[in-house]
Amino acid sequence: MRIPHSMPTLGKEEAKGLQEVLASGMIATGEEVERFEREMSSYLGLRGAVAIASGTAALHLSLLTIGVKEGDEVIIPSFTCSALLNAVFHCRATPRIVDIDEETMNISLATTRKALTKRTAAIIIPHMFGNPVENMNGFLSLGPPVVEDCAQSLGATSCGRMTGTWGAVAMFSFYATKVITTGHGGMVASMDEKIIEQARDLRQYDKKEDYKVRYNFCMTDLQGRMGRIQMGKLPSFLKMREERAQLYDKYIKGLKGVALPPDKGIYYRYVVKISEGKLKRVLDQLQQEGIEVQRPVFRPLHQYLGLDGFEATERVHAEALSLPLYPRLEPEKVSSIALCLSKALEDSDSND
Ligand SMILES: Cc1ncc(COP(=O)(O)O)c(C=O)c1O
Repeated sequence: MRIPHSMPTLGKEEAKGLQEVLASGMIATGEEVERFEREMSSYLGLRGAVAIASGTAALHLSLLTIGVKEGDEVIIPSFTCSALLNAVFHCRATPRIVDIDEETMNISLATTRKALTKRTAAIIIPHMFGNPVENMNGFLSLGPPVVEDCAQSLGATSCGRMTGTWGAVAMFSFYATKVITTGHGGMVASMDEKIIEQARDLRQYDKKEDYKVRYNFCMTDLQGRMGRIQMGKLPSFLKMREERAQLYDKYIKGLKGVALPPDKGIYYRYVVKISEGKLKRVLDQLQQEGIEVQRPVFRPLHQYLGLDGFEATERVHAEALSLPLYPRLEPEKVSSIALCLSKALEDSDSND
């Protein structure tokens, strides 16, 4: 048995759509991308959206559109994807890494407040694992512009409001493992027309009257069509994710030494916590059995920079385990994974 950790959900519709775009001869950025942008901004209830080549590039442009530059500081959490660190460095700004809230595994308001300085130019808030940050008003009241990182939270709501609609600007990722996919891809979205205009200008360098450093961060029409088809399937994707997460809840609930994930959001990832130093043994055993479990964050960001004092992140990193979760995962597999998890926990007990 081999069960992948993540998998895109693609069907006949994507194949047909891609063939049509190929036959049209327009394979760079054209009408399909424009339609995808309009559909995304209307889904989010935002004024505009700009399709980008990747989530990282979308994050980079998001920072530039709010004026982040050399010498500025950008606050980011420690327990997230290294793309955040890259986006800040791409702007020649300085990352100020802060510890997380241990329970939600999201950025902590208290540590963010402590990290504010006169040079803070932005706060990036990722809604990790599809679990929305709850106190968005608290972050907004701190002052610096908020960039919402919705790479993992498309369709999730925080206090009844869609993630991506709180901050000055939001970015999304459509990488192959994400909630919807275009292979690689991303989006910048905002209520502010100036931000949208700037992102559109910076995305593409050709035929401009003035010169400034611009990028080639365009999305292709092949990706645009795929994104539109995937967006149409989003409600069913979210439902299937939730059903599988509920099954996991049911099977795992009674197991000793496992804490379930917070039960809100969209279940991009199903992240349990394995206590008493057993994570490594459980992870290895499940992998040996062909179940591709993972640590949900490969390496916390402060470790890359050799920083200390991130206690909540260290504790979470020592316990967090991401189990396979995607719409195509058969419900019977969820039960087999839970069974193997239970066995691995028992074995690690007897090895103590
Ligand atoms: C929270 C977060 N932000 C940003 C990104 C970057 O997106 P991409 O891989 O599309 O560049 C990712 C990707 O995994 C992510 O998980």
